[in-house]
Amino acid sequence: MKVLIVGGGGREHALAWKFRRDDPSIELIAAPGNPGIATLGRCEAVGASDVAGLLALAKSESVGLTVVGPEAPLDAGIVDAFRAERLPIFGPTCAAARIETSKTWAKDLMKRAGVPTAAAQTFSDPAAARAEARRLGAPVVIKATGLAAGKGVVVAVSLNDADDAIAMMLEQRAFGDAGREVLVEEFMTGEELSIFALTDGTHAMPMIAAQDHKRIGEGDTGLNTGGMGAYAPVSIATSAVGGAVMDTVFEPTLAAMRKSGSPFTGLLYAGIMLTPQGPKVVEFNCRFGDPETEAILPLLDSSLLAPIRAIAEGESIASAAPYSWRAGAAVTTVVAAEGYPQSARAGDAITLPALPPNVTVFHSGTKRDAAGTLLTAGGRVLAVTAVAKSLAEAQRASAAYAESVSFEGRQFRRDIGWRDLAQNRA
Ligand code: AMP
Ligand code: GLY
Repeated sequence: MKVLIVGGGGREHALAWKFRRDDPSIELIAAPGNPGIATLGRCEAVGASDVAGLLALAKSESVGLTVVGPEAPLDAGIVDAFRAERLPIFGPTCAAARIETSKTWAKDLMKRAGVPTAAAQTFSDPAAARAEARRLGAPVVIKATGLAAGKGVVVAVSLNDADDAIAMMLEQRAFGDAGREVLVEEFMTGEELSIFALTDGTHAMPMIAAQDHKRIGEGDTGLNTGGMGAYAPVSIATSAVGGAVMDTVFEPTLAAMRKSGSPFTGLLYAGIMLTPQGPKVVEFNCRFGDPETEAILPLLDSSLLAPIRAIAEGESIASAAPYSWRAGAAVTTVVAAEGYPQSARAGDAITLPALPPNVTVFHSGTKRDAAGTLLTAGGRVLAVTAVAKSLAEAQRASAAYAESVSFEGRQFRRDIGWRDLAQNRA
């Protein structure tokens, strides 16, 4: 069977790596892929958001299964287009992807379904938004309602900062139409978890939790990024927490989506805050997270391809075999380019030393030049995952390999998993 992976980052490399292990007989195609994925399959120069080009590729190659990595093609209706041609594809329709692509739609759904989340109201009028921020008091969270490449959220520590964020989004239109409306949202405190569930629209198969490290600096300081690392499992994600997330988040959300006429199939990512009142939803994503996927999949012993294929073919996963997880822990350290996240130096030669047996390198932002030299080509360049018996050991091995990678100006955090280690929870 030919499997087409849409995308070209570390998440898609990890999916390709896992699929190849699950079934060595598959033929992998990635669009556009990257030099890491090219060691596992064939890369085709079709953009991840080029729905017509991807459809033509899938048809001409007689692809048996398409798996979509990023949210942009989902928002562009790739699943609707493939389904109309009866081509099996894993992911939500454009209407179901609204759970990520419209924060207002997602909030309304959660409200209707009684899913615990921060209280929030939507505004297009700056004065009304400022008044609501004053009513809630600082800290307060201002969010562009549309897709803003992960940059549309400001946690304002003062009302001045809130006013600036409202002006930036509603008046200066920093995010274009994605900031035509903003949510003014109550601030929640607690630790965050990323919980992914495969779903056929009715049944959910949640995976072990991971924790993303969004800030550029060690100790979670400095600017927000796409994610500087992740680890799994997370000790505060106990089975009681997992049960509560299943009962209060996944089940009512999937039921509300079915009721709304847009059942969600694919991978539902719940960004959870473990507040003193219990787990609450920070946001949903309609796809695998990056870099959490690079930490979670190396711990998954059972097949990922089998349930994904069943879902793409419209089958129920009610009686699918449960996942089996390796003992131990995984730490993924992202090696980023100089200047990230404001800018990213590109085009520097990368040297990758030989891999220790417990380390895997996923390519996030790399390319090869005509001579075959591996070069940096993005803010997040590599995701280095180490699997070990303990979290401390996994952190050491992941950071040690990241240290040994060389390219001009590389930066990475040595403390992925620090909350668990500092509190001696692991
Ligand atoms: P999002 O893009 O919605 O995941 O938001 C980015 C980050 O902002 C989250 O990972 C949180 O760290 C933070 N954040 C978002 N909403 C809230 C909230 N209501 N209270 C506290 N922090 C939040
Ligand atoms: N790691 C956060 C995300 O994928 O959105």
